[in-house]
Amino acid sequence: MERMLNNKVYIETYGCQMNLADTEIVMGVLQNQGYTITKQADDADVVLLNTCSVRDNAEQRIYGRLGNLKTLKYTKPGVVIGILGCMAERLRKDLIEEKKMVDLVVGPDEYRRLPEYIDTAFNGEKGIGVRLSKTETYDDIIPYREDGLQAWISVMRGCDKFCTFCVVPFTRGRERSRNLNSIVQEVQQLSNRGFKEVTLLGQNVNSYFDEGTDFADLLAASAQVDRTLRIRFTTSHPQDISDKLLHTISEHSNICNYIHLPVQSGSNKILELMNRTYTVEHYLNIIEKARKIIPGVSFSTDIIAGFPAETLEDHLMTIDLMQQVRYDGAFMFKYSPREGTKAYKMDDDVAEETKAKRLQQIIDLQQQISFEINQGQIGSDEIILIEGFSRKSDQFYSGRTDTNKIVIVPADSSITIGDYVKTKINKATSGTLFGSFEGIIDPQKESLSLTA
Ligand code: SAH
Ligand code: SF4
Ligand code: F3S
Repeated sequence: MERMLNNKVYIETYGCQMNLADTEIVMGVLQNQGYTITKQADDADVVLLNTCSVRDNAEQRIYGRLGNLKTLKYTKPGVVIGILGCMAERLRKDLIEEKKMVDLVVGPDEYRRLPEYIDTAFNGEKGIGVRLSKTETYDDIIPYREDGLQAWISVMRGCDKFCTFCVVPFTRGRERSRNLNSIVQEVQQLSNRGFKEVTLLGQNVNSYFDEGTDFADLLAASAQVDRTLRIRFTTSHPQDISDKLLHTISEHSNICNYIHLPVQSGSNKILELMNRTYTVEHYLNIIEKARKIIPGVSFSTDIIAGFPAETLEDHLMTIDLMQQVRYDGAFMFKYSPREGTKAYKMDDDVAEETKAKRLQQIIDLQQQISFEINQGQIGSDEIILIEGFSRKSDQFYSGRTDTNKIVIVPADSSITIGDYVKTKINKATSGTLFGSFEGIIDPQKESLSLTA
């Protein structure tokens, strides 16, 4: 099939927020070339999956999805089916040569040339672009974003940490930062369009660096653009979190008091095998310092259960660490060996059953802690940004605190989506707070943070 004007493209996105941000870049690139975006796969001339390789089950899902998408070829033989993102880097040969499942494989640093690769595929050859770049940041590409309240901006790409379990340094290449001024300009444009929250993204935002400015400078500059616009960021690596960063968060009422700080394990032996470059003591020290500098700060984390050589004792140290920190939330995973990583060569010696049991204990404990922390919020006041109606009923609105907790409030007729609202918490589960409507906040005049 020849490429025509007005070809339609459909994209599904898997994996982390960086992939969501990349999908917007991809749509920006394709729209510039005259493509239109469709929300229906069977209506599209090009069907793309932006994929994740972080754990085996993430990849299995994609294989399953490719299996069903194949049926599109029966009704429309010319349709181009392609893989973008992290799996493109890891499995290029497998996807194209061995499994013959797709027409196109394009990795995270080659999206600028995606239209050319699609043309190649339309001409009946395989479109393959998997080179990683040391410099690509898509600085000048305007992402395609629908109007809304929340937006993502990737401020850096790649990762140089090489944690021994992780594929990201291989699928995303070397660390590089985007220019500070161009990020700040994008924040300004989002503010002009009425966005209320921007999340600055990177695998390790604390190592952001641009001509003498660091991540704290970038956060401060982004926060100064518009005091009524909330700034979030993720992910922070415990090794590089600086006092300056903590003070910057504390000094700006629109930088959210929420830090995602993946710990992975509570055992120093395991942390060393993981090449995480910090100890439990160093990590706890950061938490303590952050709690002093930023009153009311909340923490979430990532934990891996069943890493090679993890004994019951190591696992109990993780449990102990969770009890000491008392995270507001956690993302918890079973260790999944990834080919090409250092840990892949270690003996994956924790039995599947044991991994599953340890993971369940970690999940249960976190659920209990989240429940207790949320119960403790009852009676307190919070400012939330109203994001929309609650999932269950349009008699209620759903909003989020700056500590990243969801609060359900009655849908008072004076509230509009995008308002900051004051609420008093009167009920809580492990995942959700419920509150009364206490009035609308004027963000031009009032602080967005009750603790600031
Ligand atoms: N850059 C972030 C995390 C990126 S991946 C950071 O360093 O914190 C998100 C999470 O997936 C990781 O924090 C880790 O907990 C988990 N993860 C990564 N590789 C994994 C693997 N091979 N098996 C299980 N979990 C993994
Ligand atoms: Fe992976 Fe570690 Fe980099 Fe995070 S810091 S992306 S876990 S290598
Ligand atoms: Fe997955 Fe790649 Fe993100 S492996 S977690 S999509 S960086």
